[in-house]
Amino acid sequence: MSAQFDHNRKLYIETVGCQMNMLDSELVVAALRKDGYELTDDPKAADTLLFNTCSVREHAEHKIYSSLGRLKYAKRNAPHKVIGVLGCMAQKDQDLIFQKAPHVDIVVGTGQLAEIPRLIRETRESANRVQQKAVSLGRRDGSVKEVSGSFQSYDPLRDPEMRPTPFQAFVRIMIGCDKFCTYCVVPATRGPEQSRSPSEILHEVRVLADQGVKEICMLGQTVNSYKYSEDGRQHRLSDLMYAIQQVEGIDRIRFVTSFPKDMTDDLLQAVRDLSKAVRYLHVPLQHGCNEQLRLMKRGYTVEDYREMMGRINETIPGCSVSSDFIVGFCGETEEAHQKSMDSIREFRFKNSFIFKYSERGGTKAAELLPDDIPEDVKKRRNNEMLDVQNAISEEGNADFIGSRVSVLVEGPSKTSEKRAARGDAITVPGDPLATQLMGRSECDRIVVFDGNPRLAGSTAEIEILDCTGTTLIGSIVTREVQHGSNTVLPILS
Ligand code: 5AD
Ligand code: SF4
Repeated sequence: MSAQFDHNRKLYIETVGCQMNMLDSELVVAALRKDGYELTDDPKAADTLLFNTCSVREHAEHKIYSSLGRLKYAKRNAPHKVIGVLGCMAQKDQDLIFQKAPHVDIVVGTGQLAEIPRLIRETRESANRVQQKAVSLGRRDGSVKEVSGSFQSYDPLRDPEMRPTPFQAFVRIMIGCDKFCTYCVVPATRGPEQSRSPSEILHEVRVLADQGVKEICMLGQTVNSYKYSEDGRQHRLSDLMYAIQQVEGIDRIRFVTSFPKDMTDDLLQAVRDLSKAVRYLHVPLQHGCNEQLRLMKRGYTVEDYREMMGRINETIPGCSVSSDFIVGFCGETEEAHQKSMDSIREFRFKNSFIFKYSERGGTKAAELLPDDIPEDVKKRRNNEMLDVQNAISEEGNADFIGSRVSVLVEGPSKTSEKRAARGDAITVPGDPLATQLMGRSECDRIVVFDGNPRLAGSTAEIEILDCTGTTLIGSIVTREVQHGSNTVLPILS
């Protein structure tokens, strides 16, 4: 059998969906590196191809099925290739995946990712391929222990190459969700809400700090619902923030995604009082009309959200808030849609992620509420919302012109290469290596400026000169090099 012979241990991984999925992929890659795998971005060169999937909207599922479809013939010519589908779709549609894409070898649900190295090994070693799946039991079948056991022992394995940048890392503090919004598939795909022990989280943060990570982003579907009883007391997200504040090497602490009803004062005070806390909250409103919020079963009204925004603005002046919105949800009238747009104007979100409603099998909305808004109306409302949000974002960004912001430098900006190709002038005199860099301000705004790429990972002060709806454009503030000090960055402009 040629399986062993052709095995080159090159791994191709495609990830769609949220930060949770990005983190899962990082953990899977780290585990497979231990088995001698190395990453490739060429699916043709790989002998192992993994697809980490998302089920939140139908579009994401289509994308995966078309990627899988493209592999059908590749697999026919190279039957030794192992193809795996991981994550939310694997959890939800295990048999359907094998049916629609019979060339898939393994299907691994969200709670079983630690099984992947074993499953790949077994698949590769078996002479006659048998399709395998590892999908935890549903949330009603007492799978809590099984799922949490799997993720607790798994998170410490990390892979720097898979991170957003070498200086930023996600740390999962909880999994699952118990809110059961009627449109959402997450409670089914990610299981019940379970928080992780603070001592394990802190251990992981310290390890990451030792590896040079500067910014920790704590992840949870409803991250501010975090609670864990340990050492005779209950720990909340604010307690985790105070603990991480003490970790040397970490400069910034952030968390996503918050649930409006769980935005407690102790958390807001922690964001206000801790020097490392990023002044940014992602708290999806989802809709600006109470009737729609009721149908979505979000558990709050626009008035409740307004009260929360009042507390945020009072406690943390200058805090940026971003939101998610769904347009075209069941029964959404033109008037309801206008109310959503009014809420963007009222709350002046830094930015909003706006999604067309996508009916998901297994949710309460799919069972009880007709998906009755035509696609062209969803599309139009989506565009109208985007226009309103873009105007608000640009106004919000314009307020920064003339001020100075502190930026954690992430590296060259997306446009820097294009700019270099065009031969545009570099505005840093005497520094031929300078290029356009990007980073984020303390309130999570994207900032671009010219500077030396070796600034990546450091914090720089940037004077804001201009903006677009998505970006602040600035120039690095000149700093004197202090003689005898090796901690001050060299002068760059
Ligand atoms: N259709 C459209 N958008 C959805 N979201 C969640 N479920 C759906 C759905 N069925 C959006 C919500 C959530 C974000 C991650 O995705 O706005 O906050
Ligand atoms: Fe989905 Fe609602 Fe849970 Fe968010 S809070 S993951 S939208 S069920």
